[in-house]
Amino acid sequence: MNKRLKTISLMLVVMILSLALAACSSSSTGSNSGVNVGIVLPTKDEPRWVQDEQRFKDALANSEYTTEILFSQGSSGKEKENVETLINKGIKVLIISPQDGDAAGSAVEAAKKEGITVISYDRLITNTDAVDYYVTFDSVAVGAAQGQYLIDNVQGTNVPLYLYAGAASDNNAFLFFEGAWSVLQPKIADGTFKIANSSEAIALKDTAELTRDQMSKILGQVTTNWDPNEAKNKAQTHLTAAAADMKGNVAVLAPNDGTARSIADVFASDSEITSYAITGQDAEKASIQYIIDGKQSMTVFKDVRTLVQDAMGMAVDILDGKTPVTTGSYNNGNTEVKAKQTDVIVLNEDNVKKELIDSGYYEASEFTGLK
Ligand code: BGC
Repeated sequence: MNKRLKTISLMLVVMILSLALAACSSSSTGSNSGVNVGIVLPTKDEPRWVQDEQRFKDALANSEYTTEILFSQGSSGKEKENVETLINKGIKVLIISPQDGDAAGSAVEAAKKEGITVISYDRLITNTDAVDYYVTFDSVAVGAAQGQYLIDNVQGTNVPLYLYAGAASDNNAFLFFEGAWSVLQPKIADGTFKIANSSEAIALKDTAELTRDQMSKILGQVTTNWDPNEAKNKAQTHLTAAAADMKGNVAVLAPNDGTARSIADVFASDSEITSYAITGQDAEKASIQYIIDGKQSMTVFKDVRTLVQDAMGMAVDILDGKTPVTTGSYNNGNTEVKAKQTDVIVLNEDNVKKELIDSGYYEASEFTGLK
């Protein structure tokens, strides 16, 4: 064989080998490789969801069923792809926390068509009938606890109130805001608080119960999109625009821990802010440290171990041919979705140790200055 021919035949062998390999790998993901339960979570970029992954792994360590966890990284496109991958792996149950409640509809409709049972996890998938069950915390109670904390921890009247909210693509953002508004509104109406950063909220200050459209208007002005950076930029803009009478001792409704920490940093660095009370949720480790250090006032602890247990318990019931136990239902805009709901616990510096360390949720060594 001359040198040229040798090179060409070598190239051919390489090509044939790589084609064969490609065929192998696509068939191994394409065929039923025996996953029973598929789990899709919104993003690895927020500690909240990494925590859910860990709690699922802990809970599944001794399970006889096989599971696979995929992250959607804030993209509904990636989420759809993840669901398709899991469908191709033969899942019977899909546990999914949507990136965007409406956009996830088409992904779960594809799953339903294959006879898969769909469990919405923490966030409700909206405006589709392709959701069978919903496992969730009491999200209205989360918002009410945040609002009540502010009421209980300010003094005097005319306290400037800065409102922030979650992403409008997440149904929970509305539930949290609804809960907060239900307790704050009477205290805005009676002059305890004055709203500092939303003309839409000011226009609605005498309306006790807001419609979804009314809440959308407020969210349009004060959403963080669940993004700490966006929260920080908004807080900076609001404080730059605020008149002197909107500074001093203030109250801040922050929707979760990630956004609370970045908003708190902005308020802490403004010399005209004398003190601030600020809410949060998720009991993220970094926020527990902020609470110990007096930089964040409270958080709402949602014990993810319970949510994971409920979701997996439901999945196992379904795999075993039993009907899962539910405790109520949520309307998702299209249908009543049977739901199992879990309570939440309000944390401040006085009870973090009892609720988080003594209960084995976190280790004391993960914090400094814990009393
Ligand atoms: C969850 C929160 C979380 C937020 C941002 C909400 O749907 O309930 O726990 O902080 O999304 O990811």
